[in-house]
Amino acid sequence: MAMTAEKTMASFAANDVITSPAHGRTGYKTFTLGSFQFSRDEYFAWIQWPAKGETRTHAMSIDAFLRALMRDVAWGFFYGWVNFDHVLGTRNHYGTVDLYAGTFNGTLRDAGVNYTENFETPLIMATFKAILHDWTNQAFDPFAAPEETGSAFGCKNGDNVEAIERTRISTIRMPGIPGDSPLRDDLPINRAFADVVQDEPRVVPEPGFENELHAFNLFKYLSRSDVTWNPSVTSVCKQSLFCPTTEEYILPIFHGNDRVEWFLQISDEIAWDIADKDSGEPRARVIMKAGDIAAMPADIRHQGYSTKRSMLLVWENGNGDLVRMHESGEIPPWPVVF
Ligand code: PHB
Ligand code: FE
Repeated sequence: MAMTAEKTMASFAANDVITSPAHGRTGYKTFTLGSFQFSRDEYFAWIQWPAKGETRTHAMSIDAFLRALMRDVAWGFFYGWVNFDHVLGTRNHYGTVDLYAGTFNGTLRDAGVNYTENFETPLIMATFKAILHDWTNQAFDPFAAPEETGSAFGCKNGDNVEAIERTRISTIRMPGIPGDSPLRDDLPINRAFADVVQDEPRVVPEPGFENELHAFNLFKYLSRSDVTWNPSVTSVCKQSLFCPTTEEYILPIFHGNDRVEWFLQISDEIAWDIADKDSGEPRARVIMKAGDIAAMPADIRHQGYSTKRSMLLVWENGNGDLVRMHESGEIPPWPVVF
């Protein structure tokens, strides 16, 4: 899932690190990436860019900013658009990445105060990782549910390298097959999933098919997930990628997909805000309860809310040619015509 750029990252250094007036007081570094500048203080991330001859400034609550940044880094910029909020975001061109402010916000774009700059993936990745490392304090885990982590706020206070070095698990075929990703039995069962049965299925292959037939308990696997809003690629069959995940609180990004994806609500409930992909104008609110299935079209952005930790299966199509097929209008943005 567009993770290959990370492998060459070592050859790129993060862009210039400069210090701002807040640095002396709060201890955080300020970063530049092209014409963008990122700084933080006790409560906010400040993002600046040039437009119409002036410096424009946008603020995000630092906890929301770090949660979004964590996903963008761990997912290698994901499919299509990762909107940190209604202003800031990235668009993946699989090799290069656009960083934008206001470009996918109808009001800011119409006012001409938006800005987009394109970067080689390893450079923006190295810069984003450097920001994440410097701005994440020892108590804060940007992957954790708010009830399961300490505070993101305040002056610089240590770091949390272990938490932010997690990347999504990427399976070759299925967890538990020898040589493939592990079943994570070592992790504790999450407090929200104490009732999830922990049996594994009994697999009895015919002689000679021992390496062909495999099964595992997906509910058990998910009940032990220590992160939220982080789909792992858990079964791979040609271009069909099953990416289950556990969800609590708010999906930290508004994702604009460059292809259709399917959601299968495995347990509990998620509310989705759906908006136009280009302008951000609200389009729908979808409540998904256990057993519900929905297709998310390729022309929207979406953000989910889950009070009780829930299990969601995100079903992705790994075919890279879909981007071109959607952009040229060769295929419609929805999967079924009724
Ligand atoms: C999505 O954008 O489709 C998405 C991302 C992360 C999740 C769930 C869904 O945990
Ligand atoms: Fe999505």
